[in-house]
Amino acid sequence: MTNVLVAALPESHALAQRVAVALGAEQARLEIRPFPDEETYLRYDGPVAGKLVVIVCSLDRPNRKFLPLAFAAATARELGASGVGLVAPYLAYMRQDRRFKPGEAVTSTHFARLLSSQIDWLVTVDPHLHRHKSLGDIYTAPVRVAHAAPLISNWIRSEVDRPLLLGPDSESEQWVAAVASASGAPFAVMSKIRRGDRDVEVSLPALDQWRDRTPVLVDDIASTARTMIEGVKRLRAVRMTAPVCVAVHGIFAGDAYDALRNAGAARIVTLNTVPHASNAIDVTPLLAEAVREVVT
Ligand code: R5P
Repeated sequence: MTNVLVAALPESHALAQRVAVALGAEQARLEIRPFPDEETYLRYDGPVAGKLVVIVCSLDRPNRKFLPLAFAAATARELGASGVGLVAPYLAYMRQDRRFKPGEAVTSTHFARLLSSQIDWLVTVDPHLHRHKSLGDIYTAPVRVAHAAPLISNWIRSEVDRPLLLGPDSESEQWVAAVASASGAPFAVMSKIRRGDRDVEVSLPALDQWRDRTPVLVDDIASTARTMIEGVKRLRAVRMTAPVCVAVHGIFAGDAYDALRNAGAARIVTLNTVPHASNAIDVTPLLAEAVREVVT
């Protein structure tokens, strides 16, 4: 694509490079560094005027990324960019979608407003939608959502022998059913009660008829990984084969990844929406296609 400049925010360089290559677009030389007092220095080293600037910034750990992103967008405009789009393969602040207790901030709505005010459009992958039915409910900027299910199905088909897909809870049922059907595998869903950030209880459905299968726990997000850890523990307790864990977005807060491995997961696989050692499925083609759709 001509006249498109792909700019990487810190931690998203590898993906930005892939997206630029897939789009046949130029990569911006964007210098971003913290001053000693932790304010941000930012500079586009090269012409921006007349170009569509596509900022690539996955929004895990959003509090430290949002200001540099806002500065990159505002500066691109001041320098004469024809537009500013954002590729945020993981979109943060989607889970507080209601005031559960009096006085709480509904951060999904506030964050959507803040982000929408910085950009002309947004491309993301499988945002966590629960009480908001679509991103259009909260985002005023146009949004294009790419769906990872076909990539996950392909991976499971080629990597897992006799899989049995397991979703975390009843809300995941439709999504898990779609991934399972495209993988040619059966599926079931667990029941889940979350009592706190790291306090999750899951129960398994009856699995006796699937004893010869490899359980594959699939979820959109692994954050504390407590949901997956509890699922792995329950499966091990009923002597099922050690499960494979697949998450679209591997946030893995703190020691979550090691804790999941230690719980007995046979393999942990994520998509590269968030850079992590577990990345095994590349979303670049989805992102490039979505960008093309949004700009043409
Ligand atoms: C919840 O509705 C999601 O689908 C995930 O199950 C959840 O976000 C996982 O969080 P954690 O890894 O902290 O258990």
